[in-house]
Amino acid sequence: MTDMTQAAVLADAATLERYAYARHIIRQAGEIALGMFQRRTELVIEEKGLQDMVSIADRMVEDFLRAQIAERFPADAVVGEERGGGAADARCVWVIDPIDGTACFVNGMLAWCVSIGVLVDGQPAIGAVYDPNADELFHACLGQGAHVLSRQGQTRLRVNDVASLQGGVLGVGFSHRVGTGTFLPFLLDVLEEGGMFIRNGSGALMIAYVAAGRLIGYFEPHINSWDCLAGIVLVNEAGGRCNDFLAENGLEKGNPILVGGPRLYPQLAALALPRCA
Ligand code: IPD
Ligand code: CA
Ligand code: CA
Repeated sequence: MTDMTQAAVLADAATLERYAYARHIIRQAGEIALGMFQRRTELVIEEKGLQDMVSIADRMVEDFLRAQIAERFPADAVVGEERGGGAADARCVWVIDPIDGTACFVNGMLAWCVSIGVLVDGQPAIGAVYDPNADELFHACLGQGAHVLSRQGQTRLRVNDVASLQGGVLGVGFSHRVGTGTFLPFLLDVLEEGGMFIRNGSGALMIAYVAAGRLIGYFEPHINSWDCLAGIVLVNEAGGRCNDFLAENGLEKGNPILVGGPRLYPQLAALALPRCA
């Protein structure tokens, strides 16, 4: 896979309009999810697969987002974790995860968020990740930079440009959609290099943390587009690098994800990506 780190491109008016709308509806979605989180003992939980859960909250929040998008931009396509969908021929494709970190959500842990990415002409152009517990809205748009808006105000994001794994903490993710063969040797290499890793249960949030410089990178051998599309825009706009996630229909099938600061990325890529090929 080649790198999909983007050269500076400016967003057009249609993209900027969707950027503003994404920031608006993600907060509303987060408030709905937070209300359900506070009453989570009443929610019915279903198992979609091994260690893969869904609750009525996931479906209700996705339905809310779909209704909002359809009302304002009826020609746009939507791909979402719970209700599916495809890009069709739409110029703008919204890629949404109503609750990323469902295992945390249903078990009363705080590492979950709402994630909205938008592809424009096939390019990741808008990213928004909202953590309602921390009231942090990470957002980015092509050529506009990446920012976090919190109770402290708005701050521009930059990746942590460490040169080695010893310079910070690496985020990792794993699901039983793939075998352990690519993941465990990678972790061993990271530890032997003097690195350290963390998995909090929300890939979308951890990738936003890479953009914010809190983590030095993120690797997961298979992730779906709704988990990472917003994060890809955030990391690119925060000066980081990303693998070619959309290659070979990554939008519908998922792919490995690797993001990191520009100096560390080549080392991470050498450790992680050959094993995923
Ligand atoms: C999962 C989380 C997890 C990642 C998995 C995802 P969900 O999403 O992002 O951190 O490792 O690949 O499926 O099921 O909580 O929306
Ligand atoms: Ca997810
Ligand atoms: Ca989800």
